[in-house]
Amino acid sequence: MVCLGNICRSPLAEGILASKLPKDKFTVDSAGTGHWHIGHQPDKRSLETALRNGLDISHQRGRQFSAADFDAFDYIYVMDNSNYADVIALAQTDEHRAKVRLILDEMFPGENVDVPDPYYGMQNGFDMVYRMLDETCDIVAKRLMEKHP
Ligand code: 4NP
Repeated sequence: MVCLGNICRSPLAEGILASKLPKDKFTVDSAGTGHWHIGHQPDKRSLETALRNGLDISHQRGRQFSAADFDAFDYIYVMDNSNYADVIALAQTDEHRAKVRLILDEMFPGENVDVPDPYYGMQNGFDMVYRMLDETCDIVAKRLMEKHP
């Protein structure tokens, strides 16, 4: 799960998807394309939004996406089109590029919809992000379990 800061959207996406998959079969992680929040806990508003929905994401720490992630992970879900461009710019092969998907494409195929960055907004932006991610992760989790039974 990749966003810009790895403190708002992708930590929620990591927590939500991990909660929908069997832990012994799948590794879910998140990263940011930016370096500002390396080692930081998720934003307080993401922590609170997750907790209100029964998820504790307080163990997560920010890290920066790197080219090594293309080999470490089978699927790379990005939150918006700018994350997509930043991640694709680090890809070296077609195999790497094929791993990268816009996460809302799973729910709205071909519509190119972004998960909006809630960082500079209000709490309700985080609630909306949570709902979008929860819905799309239901679909992602179902597909992953079908593909990797
Ligand atoms: P995120 O939100 O990409 O959803 O984690 C942001 C958090 C921090 C910054 C930008 C976006 N920032 O510029 O520090």
